[in-house]
Amino acid sequence: MKKIGVVGAGNVGTTLALALQEKGYPLLGFCCRTEESTRRAAGLLGCPSFSRQLSRFREADLIFITTPDRSIEPVCRQLAREGAFRRGQIVLHTSGAHSSAILKAAREAGAYCLSMHPLQTFPSVEAGRRNLPGSYFTLEGDEEALAEGMRMVEMLGGIPLTIPTSMKPLYHAAACVACNYYITLVEVAVEMLEHSGVPREQALPALLPLLQGTLANIARVGVPGALTGPIDRGDQTTIKAHLEILQREMPRVLELYRVMGSYTVEVARAKGTLEEKGGRELQQLLKATETGNQ
Ligand SMILES: NC(=O)c1ccc[n+]([C@@H]2O[C@H](COP(=O)([O-])OP(=O)(O)OC[C@H]3O[C@@H](n4cnc5c(N)ncnc54)[C@H](OP(=O)(O)O)[C@@H]3O)[C@@H](O)[C@H]2O)c1
Repeated sequence: MKKIGVVGAGNVGTTLALALQEKGYPLLGFCCRTEESTRRAAGLLGCPSFSRQLSRFREADLIFITTPDRSIEPVCRQLAREGAFRRGQIVLHTSGAHSSAILKAAREAGAYCLSMHPLQTFPSVEAGRRNLPGSYFTLEGDEEALAEGMRMVEMLGGIPLTIPTSMKPLYHAAACVACNYYITLVEVAVEMLEHSGVPREQALPALLPLLQGTLANIARVGVPGALTGPIDRGDQTTIKAHLEILQREMPRVLELYRVMGSYTVEVARAKGTLEEKGGRELQQLLKATETGNQ
């Protein structure tokens, strides 16, 4: 089994290293930036710290650079300067935003490079370990490294996805829409409920069953099948009432409602419940608000 070195043993690096160790990959060593993180990682990983001896990573067959995104490229250059890379090694990072191209310094030293992004959230090592099985991992990079990446994903109980290197930023934007913007949408809905008279402390609990029901419906019947509501029904009177009260009470939210409404018309059209004429009229209604002349 290939020996693993972890540069940046935080939430993701530690989670992946522990899960792979369980599958038989030996852990060679790790490094962190601060003393505190080094102590914590040593306790969890049970392998030596190479923080003061980066050249020791040369003995690893697989190097995980799991530092924050902004540090991946400079850390990779530093590892190259200190002789941590060798021909035939595999060097990878787990960033969703960057491609394997930022590992150029490792490639120049003869290593094969890979980005292997878990489409999952890791607020802690414990949560990461719990959520890992069944997660998708998106891979791109050198062919030799891709084959090893696929093997690791399989070992981790994950599902591999591959994308072209040039599309990595678009892929990452999609993950941000699904995860981060989803949270923002919930926050806006909480604010709207609060403004409508629901006490703040009850707003999120009141929305949770609705959110959970919606997610369960998406899992069961997919998109667009899970769509319900006034746009799905082509109910122009209700949409008009929404636009009017938003303009009066929460004009900051109006633009978001308008844009999301316009996308939702497309979803309803794809579902087949909304006729072309009804869809066109709803689009006009949603657009008219933009100029305040509905
Ligand atoms: N968290 C997620 O949900 C998630 C999901 C998918 C992908 N990712 C990606 O996974 C990567 C790691 O994220 P993370 O959440 O695991 O970060 P993290 O928990 O903040 O851990 C980062 C680790 O890197 C270390 N580090 C920072 N600068 C370093 C340096 N110059 N040299 C050596 N070590 C250094 C940190 O040590 P100190 O604590 O001592 O600074 C820490 O151990 C990122 O590329 C991120 O985009 C994260």
